Amino acid sequence: MSNLCIVGLQWGDEGKGKIVDYYADKFQAVVRYNGGSNAGHTIVINGRTFVFHLLPSGSLKRKKLFIGPGVALDPITLEEEIAMLEKEGGHADLTIDERCTLVTPLEKQMDSFIEGLRGSNAIGTTKRGIGPSYAMRALRLIPRAGDLAKGEFDLTSAIGFYKSFLKEIPEMDGWKERSLKVLAGRTGDVGGEVMRLNEAGHSVMFEGAQGTLLDLVFGTYPFVTGAHTTASYVPAGLGIPNSALGDVMGVAKAYTTRVGGGPFPTEILDDTGEMIRKEGKEYGATTGRPRRIGWLDLVGLKYAVRLNGASEIALTKMDILAKVKETKVCLAYSIDGEETSDFSKAMPRLSEAKPVYQVMRPIYGQELREDNLPRAAEQLVEFLEDELRVNVSLVSTGEERSATMQRHV
Ligand code: IMP
Ligand code: MG
Repeated sequence: MSNLCIVGLQWGDEGKGKIVDYYADKFQAVVRYNGGSNAGHTIVINGRTFVFHLLPSGSLKRKKLFIGPGVALDPITLEEEIAMLEKEGGHADLTIDERCTLVTPLEKQMDSFIEGLRGSNAIGTTKRGIGPSYAMRALRLIPRAGDLAKGEFDLTSAIGFYKSFLKEIPEMDGWKERSLKVLAGRTGDVGGEVMRLNEAGHSVMFEGAQGTLLDLVFGTYPFVTGAHTTASYVPAGLGIPNSALGDVMGVAKAYTTRVGGGPFPTEILDDTGEMIRKEGKEYGATTGRPRRIGWLDLVGLKYAVRLNGASEIALTKMDILAKVKETKVCLAYSIDGEETSDFSKAMPRLSEAKPVYQVMRPIYGQELREDNLPRAAEQLVEFLEDELRVNVSLVSTGEERSATMQRHV
C-alpha cells in the first residue's frame, strides 16, 4: 500500500483532522509537513472533542507521530498538547525533525506588530507567529529545533533585529528552558525515518495543514498563510523523493468557509450564512473567531484538485447542508460581464467576481446515515464527481468519528 497525503482544498478547516484520524488505522505513522500551531484539527469521539494544533491527528490511535522540517514549531504549544494527551491516558510517540524552524515569543510579537501596520488591510492572521517564523528562517536569523536541543541556541542577531522595531524584548530564558524539556529525546531525522518505514514495507500518512487557497504562492495572496499548503510540499518539506508522496486525497467541505480577510466570491451574508455557522459550529478551532460562510465553489475546487493532483475527495459536513432549505454550487464567476471558471485567471480580480450558481435539489430535512445517503445528497456527490473528475471516496455525515460513509471501496 502506498503513502497517502491528506490535503485541504479550500481555505482550511475542511475537516482534515477527522479524515486523518479515520484512515490512520491503515498506516504506521502520521506526519505533519507544513504550517504550525495556526492549524486546529478537530476529532470528536463519543461526544468528546479533541483539538490538535501541532501533534499529528494520529495520536488518538496511538500511531507513530512525526513533525517534519517544514513545520514552524512552537515548543510551548506542543508541551501543552502532549500534556493534554497524557492526561487522557494517551502517549505521544513523537519525533521532531532537527531542522524545524522554531517559533519563539518574539515571532508572535512580530505577527501582531505587522498586523497593526496593515491597519484596515490586516490579513487576520492567527497571531501564532507562523509567517514571521518562516521569514526569520529566510533571513537566517532564527535557530532550529536541533540547535536548541544541542545547546547551540544563539539569539543575539535576532534580538538585535527585533530591537529595531519592538519596544520591549521579553525575557527568553524561561521559554528556552521549557522548550528544551519538550525537545529532549524527541529530535531526529524525520525524512530518513519515513524512508526507512517505507523500505520496511510500512505506509505513512501525510497530514496537510491549512488549505490550498491559503498557499503562500498559489493562494489568494496576500490573504494567505506564511507557508506552502499543497501536496507538492510533502517531498520538499520532508526531504523525501517525489515518488514517496503516494496518493493524494483532497478534503472539501460541502460548503465553504474562510477565517480572516480576503476575497470570497460565494460568501453568504444573510441569515442562511448565520444558520450554517451555528449548525456547523463554524468558529475557529485556534482563535475562536466566527468563520465566514459561503456556498460550495467548484471554480476554486477545480483549481485545488489540479494543483494537488488529488485523485479522490473526502466531502465533509454533508449533514449541515441537510439543515439548509436550499443547496447551491458555484460553477463560474462573472467578472465585468465575462464568465470564467479558471480560478487562476480570476484571482487578480477575485474581489469583483460574482458567482454563477447552479441550484441543486435540496438535501433539506433528509436523514443522513452512514450506510445510505439520501437521493439528493447522492446526486450532489455525483455532480461533483463529474465536474471535478475525481471520486468522492468518503462522505462525512456528522462530527463523530463514526459518522463517516465510505464510497467506492
Ligand atoms: P497565519 O497562518 O496565522 O499567518 O494566518 C494567515 C491566514 O490564514 C489568516 O486568514 C488565517 O485565518 C488563515 N489560517 C491560518 N491557519 C489556518 C487554519 O488552520 N485554518 C483556517 N485558516 C487558517
Ligand atoms: Mg482548522
